[in-house]
Amino acid sequence: MSDASLFAVTLLPAGDRFEARSDESLLKAGLRALVPMRSSCRNGTCRTCLCVLESGAIAYEIEWPGLTREEKAEGLVLPCVARPLTDVVLRYER
Ligand code: FES
Repeated sequence: MSDASLFAVTLLPAGDRFEARSDESLLKAGLRALVPMRSSCRNGTCRTCLCVLESGAIAYEIEWPGLTREEKAEGLVLPCVARPLTDVVLRYER
């Protein structure tokens, strides 16, 4: 068994909530919980899944997700390649 941690993910404004493991992407966890989340490439390049990290912390699975430094500073995240480090709240417009 893995010793991955479980974190709570909330999507605003819809209020969807699901749990994500620390060793999987936020997108993968959301889709497993049957939460409708946008995706296409699922490897951090197309930006289809782009949303805003309102609170919490993430780590990227890849070295260069398709975001500029400025976008990262603004809190934009790509959930297809982002793993939770804490409970996370995302602003996720559909
Ligand atoms: S699905 Fe392509 S960047 Fe996330």
